[in-house]
This record gives sequence, structure tokens and C-alpha cells, in this order.
Amino acid sequence: MTIDHKKDKLIIFDTTLRDGEQSPGVTLTVSEKIEIAKQLSRLGVDVLEAGFPVASQGDFDAVHRIATEVGPLMVGREAIGKPMIIAGLARAVPADIQRCFDAISSAPHRRIHTFLATSDIHLEHKLKINRDECVARAVAAVSFAKTLVDDVEFSPEDAGRSDQDFLCKVLSAVIEAGATTLNIPDTVGYNMPEEYGAMIKYLRQNTKGSDKVIWSAHCHNDLGLATANTLSGIMNGIRQVEVTINGIGERAGNTAMEEIVMAVHTHPDFFPVYHTINTPQFFRISQLVSSLSGMVVQPNKAISGIHQDGVLKNKTTYEIISPETVGANTVNLVLGKHSGRAAFRSRLHELGFGELTDAEFQIAFNSFKTLADSKKRVTEQDLIALLSDQVSTA
Ligand code: KIV
Ligand code: ZN
Repeated sequence: MTIDHKKDKLIIFDTTLRDGEQSPGVTLTVSEKIEIAKQLSRLGVDVLEAGFPVASQGDFDAVHRIATEVGPLMVGREAIGKPMIIAGLARAVPADIQRCFDAISSAPHRRIHTFLATSDIHLEHKLKINRDECVARAVAAVSFAKTLVDDVEFSPEDAGRSDQDFLCKVLSAVIEAGATTLNIPDTVGYNMPEEYGAMIKYLRQNTKGSDKVIWSAHCHNDLGLATANTLSGIMNGIRQVEVTINGIGERAGNTAMEEIVMAVHTHPDFFPVYHTINTPQFFRISQLVSSLSGMVVQPNKAISGIHQDGVLKNKTTYEIISPETVGANTVNLVLGKHSGRAAFRSRLHELGFGELTDAEFQIAFNSFKTLADSKKRVTEQDLIALLSDQVSTA
């Protein structure tokens, strides 16, 4: 973590528990979400989008419990991590916004994130409203949210395929109504990096009150360009990035947090921003999200796939990021054949395997002992490989 006072801070907005949870087949329980939220706080994220409270009672409960239990715990308590703004998502309708507020209200730092589509395709086929009605609804939503909280984010959904002059009109109007962050989603992952960067530049130059707000990027990975598009946004004035751990998310996923942070980290002279992420926590959160969501990480995925290469004599010949920087292979000697049940249980917990039933624990412990008999050092990777197949992560 490097703070460079000559540069702007890059705000890291994590949406693993909201957009990430929309990955097909992923459903996290409330306690799993709380565990991930705590780990995101240790990682040092700035804003945590905890869910979409109106979507279901389960989503409401998760956001409410994160706001109530994780939010306050983080203030001034070293053990958890640093304070995060807890955000909830709401469509641009009063009932959604009120429900969102009810879910986040107990968080010491809270944000309402409201969204409305602006592309002609969405206006015509989904919302069945014209452009004037779209502006009116966006303004009404932000004005109402502003009566509940100070911190209001607005997203013009499908901005990547919207008419840019119309976007400027909507964005100028919501700034006037009190929005403090403007998030520009490439909802369908359609944009090219230069195109996305040029759009951000154009919007910033042609929106009234542009310099009063934080500009945010939210990219999807349908063409494998989410990271490139987000970085191009940063070069054109983006100061908040909306990202998920391991890039999980609907269809091809969202921008991966670890890729953006490590790109900025590795090129401090290139990017006009600095980050305050505790990068050695990346490995652990990556494992936790993978094991709880069931979304296996591609073994050679950028950043998450970094491991120690024992063969290299001089690491700098082929290594641009040391494994320790992202928390991989920091603890090689994890457990051995003399390790007892308590040490084993606590290690499992740290690796994100949660509470096991007695029967599951016994099976896992027996397998570990068998492995420890044949291997001097049982590493984190050994444990993860062993346990992923054998126990549930409930
Ligand atoms: O992709 C998208 O447009 C979104 C918005 C709700 C921000 O997830
Ligand atoms: Zn999205």
C-alpha cells in the first residue's frame, strides 16, 4: 500500500455480494456474506455493495446484518479491518429506495446506489418510456434518496450503448438533484477500451457540475475487456472502480478487483492514482469467495493464479509480482503430522471452510493426517485441494 499525496486515491467499490452473486448458480447464505464482508474489510475496500435489498427477504436480511453487525464493528476496531461505506442497490422507484435505506440505515457510513437505464434499446423495450420520462424518473429517484442519506450514487444502466449527449443531460440533472457519485456501466460488456475511455472523457467535459462528483467505472467482461476498459477509464478521470473478487458476476463476470489493483500497484508511474488495498490479503479472499460461491478460479487466472516458482534462480527474470505481495505462499509450513485438532480447525476457518459438522470435521481431519504422514509440510494449497472435494463450506 503506497499513499502518494500528489495523486488521487482510487476508490475501490466491491460488488462481489451484489453483482457478483448474480453469477449463475451462486447463492450465498447470510452468514457466508458476513464472512466475506469481514474479509473485504481486512482487505481494505472503501465501499461495499452488500446487496439489492428489494430483490428478496434474504437479500434484505444480508444487507441489514452487514450494516448492523459488520459496519459498526469496523469503526475503530483493529481486529476487523477498516471502516467501509455500506451501499445497497435500488431501482429508481421510491419503494426500492426506501427498502434500501431501511436495510443500510444502521451502518455508520452508508450509500444508496440507484440506477435507471438510458439506452434507447432499454427505454423502448424494457422500460417503455421516452427520454423525457427517463430524465424525470432519474431526478425524482436521486432527490428522494437524498432526503434519506447524503451519499447517493446514480448509474445510467447500459451507458455503454446510450447516446452520449442524452447521457450528459441525465447526468447533469442528477448532479443538480444531489448525486455525489456517477457510475458509468458498460452493462453488456460491449465497449472497446479506447471507446470507453473516450466516453468518460466526453461525459466529464460535457456534464454540468462534473467536477463536483466522483466518476466511477463499472464494466462487464463479455469480450474479455472489463479490466482494459476500467483502466482506460482511470486514464480519463475515473476515480472509483466497481469490481468483484475473482471477477465473478453475471455471464462473463465483472472487472476483477485484484487485476485493477495490481495493475495500478505495478505501474505507479503510469497511472494518475494510488490505492490503499492491503494486497497480501488477496490470496485469502480469493480462496474464500471461490470456496463459498463454488466458482472455481481458473488455475492460470491473472493475479489469483500467481504461485511461488521454486525453479527461478533470479526471480526478476520472469516475475513482475512477487507471490508474497498478493499473499500467495506466504505460509508454506502450514501444518504437519504433529498438528492437533484445534490447529487444524482454526486453519480451516482461516481458509474459508466455515463451520464443519462433527462428521465432516472427522473425515477432513483423517484425510489430513494421512496426507501429513506422506508429506513433511502440508501447505495451504494442499489443504484447499484436499478439502474442496470433501466438505461443504456451509
Ligand atoms: O451492469 C450494470 O449496469 C449494473 C448496474 C445496476 C450498476 O450492475
Ligand atoms: Zn453490473
